[in-house]
Amino acid sequence: MKSKKEIRKEILDKRNALIKDDVVKRSIRITEKLISLDKFKDSKIIMAYMDFKNEVMTGFLTEHCLKLGKTLAFPLIESIQGIKKICAYEPIDRENGLKPGTYGILEPVKHLSRKIDPQKIDMVIVPGVAFDTKGNRIGYGAGYYDVFLREVKDECFKVGIAFELQVVENIPKEEHDVVLDAIVTENRVILSKDYIERI
Ligand SMILES: Nc1ncnc2c1ncn2[C@@H]1O[C@H](COP(=O)(O)OP(=O)(O)O)[C@@H](O)[C@H]1O
Ligand SMILES: [Mg+2]
Repeated sequence: MKSKKEIRKEILDKRNALIKDDVVKRSIRITEKLISLDKFKDSKIIMAYMDFKNEVMTGFLTEHCLKLGKTLAFPLIESIQGIKKICAYEPIDRENGLKPGTYGILEPVKHLSRKIDPQKIDMVIVPGVAFDTKGNRIGYGAGYYDVFLREVKDECFKVGIAFELQVVENIPKEEHDVVLDAIVTENRVILSKDYIERI
């Protein structure tokens, strides 16, 4: 079996090769699939992310969330007792609430945002490099989401969004990895076996 590192590189190369027009079109199709899910409709507090490079674009989704009056939070890496981790913040000021942080990715400005208790989040839109159909995920290698997803409530719907080219046969799962409930691509909605068995 390929290592996480090998898969990470292979898929990042493929995703980086997508042209912008493809990224836009596929991101719109992913958004349409995601917002048609009952789980989305029922979620009041949603954690999304701000895309960078060729990640699935979240702008269509976040605009839609705001139109529907949903509470929208974004990740901010904070140092808590010397340990860097993801915290959820809802930007209150729509104009200035997000600014470029590390690597130029937009992140919430703390004094213009409200901290959201992870236990209150109904749905987390999880970014990633590669996914398999069992709900396993490879991120950039820091394990930030593995830590954050343990803090949300059991009923919180954890959904990865990805282009079809990011879905691989098999991802080596380690003890600390959190399994997702679903993956949405431009072609399909994949519910994980773990999730199906739970509902
Ligand atoms: N819950 C956790 N407890 C302890 N260490 C963790 C935890 N989650 C992740 N890590 C650390 O983060 C590292 C990277 O995790 P990995 O799953 O490979 O990254 P990613 O999920 O970003 O692809 C792991 O080697 C592990 O040491
Ligand atoms: Mg992991």
